Amino acid sequence: MKTLKDIESLKDKKVIVRVDFNVPLDEEGNVRDDKRIRHALPTLNHLLEAGVSQLVVMTHAGRPKNNEPNLMTDKIAAKLSELLIGQEVAKVNDWGENGMPDAKIVMLENLRFHKAEKSKDAAERDEFGKQLASLAEIYINEAFSNSHRDHASMTSAPKFIPGYVGLGVESEVDRIKKAIESPSHPVVAVMGGLKADKLNAINNLLNVADDILVAGALAFTLLKAQGKNMGASKIDDEGLGAMDELVEKIKLSDKVHLPTDCIIADQFSEDAEAKDVSVDEVEDDWMALDIGPETVGHYTAKLKEAKTILWFGPIGVFEIEKFSHGTRMIGRTIAESDAVSIIGGGDSAGAVKKLGLADQMTLVSTGGGASLTMIEGKKLPAIEILS
Ligand code: 3PG
Repeated sequence: MKTLKDIESLKDKKVIVRVDFNVPLDEEGNVRDDKRIRHALPTLNHLLEAGVSQLVVMTHAGRPKNNEPNLMTDKIAAKLSELLIGQEVAKVNDWGENGMPDAKIVMLENLRFHKAEKSKDAAERDEFGKQLASLAEIYINEAFSNSHRDHASMTSAPKFIPGYVGLGVESEVDRIKKAIESPSHPVVAVMGGLKADKLNAINNLLNVADDILVAGALAFTLLKAQGKNMGASKIDDEGLGAMDELVEKIKLSDKVHLPTDCIIADQFSEDAEAKDVSVDEVEDDWMALDIGPETVGHYTAKLKEAKTILWFGPIGVFEIEKFSHGTRMIGRTIAESDAVSIIGGGDSAGAVKKLGLADQMTLVSTGGGASLTMIEGKKLPAIEILS
């Protein structure tokens, strides 16, 4: 990777930085969690301190369908200005026609308001990427969590001007690589969340990990695929459809551990009646919303032996107190361990933050999809282009 540190001189240069400020926004577009913005500050401050003449910041926000006003980047620009200790951040809506303001720091409108950003047509993406590149002399990718996306601002723009990765991207890529390429053993992976396509990651992890502890709805999906009655539990049946071979392979592997008990509830709510049952005793109309204490005991014992821990995806519905025990116990055990610990994905990162454990982890990755892509052994297109 060519990194920010490889740039000989930044003085008086115009620099465009692709960040991932795809942050939770409320209905008015106010920023509800500024973690991703804070994460980019070292790179942005480095550029400003090095004397760039203009710093152009660009991001996508959400998945807009009709350029929804709450997905405009005005409030994000205001939050960035606040975090840059009051330095003004000028927002531009249409840099093409009206040109760029004569301001030190500029934030572009939501990139996904332009259909070309995510176009399937490479020429269209390149055309848009060229426009973005024309705004500066140097391109920086400081958007690790979007680096698995082959979008114009990620992979086309750096075709037209010299491109480098920012400090956060460099650190995340290196640390994840280190943990998955030559990890200290035992390597224990905790895989949760909903989507059955995580089975691909589990399949690839079989080459790296000594134990894979499966939790969340993913576990209940696998248990159902193995013929158990999972009642009204949330199951990714559609995703599972394409995974027969993997399900069979995973079933035969003694590295993959599935819950033996779970907390079931009669409804998805704080007022639900809840009880711990064996995974063989889930009743019709009841749903599994957390792993049970026996499974917690088994999983935490494995985690205590680990030298490297990878955690992707929530264990249970941790937002509701009575279904948060699994997530709390797994989180605390990882936090107390001396192992190298990599936490990936918005939900797991959110859980770790909510539990106040983030500082005790080696790395809380800003990106779930991106870090999982690396763990699956695939290349990140937006990083490859800068190599
Ligand atoms: C993320 O939040 O993971 C990235 O910003 C990518 O967003 P997307 O899944 O909408 O492409």
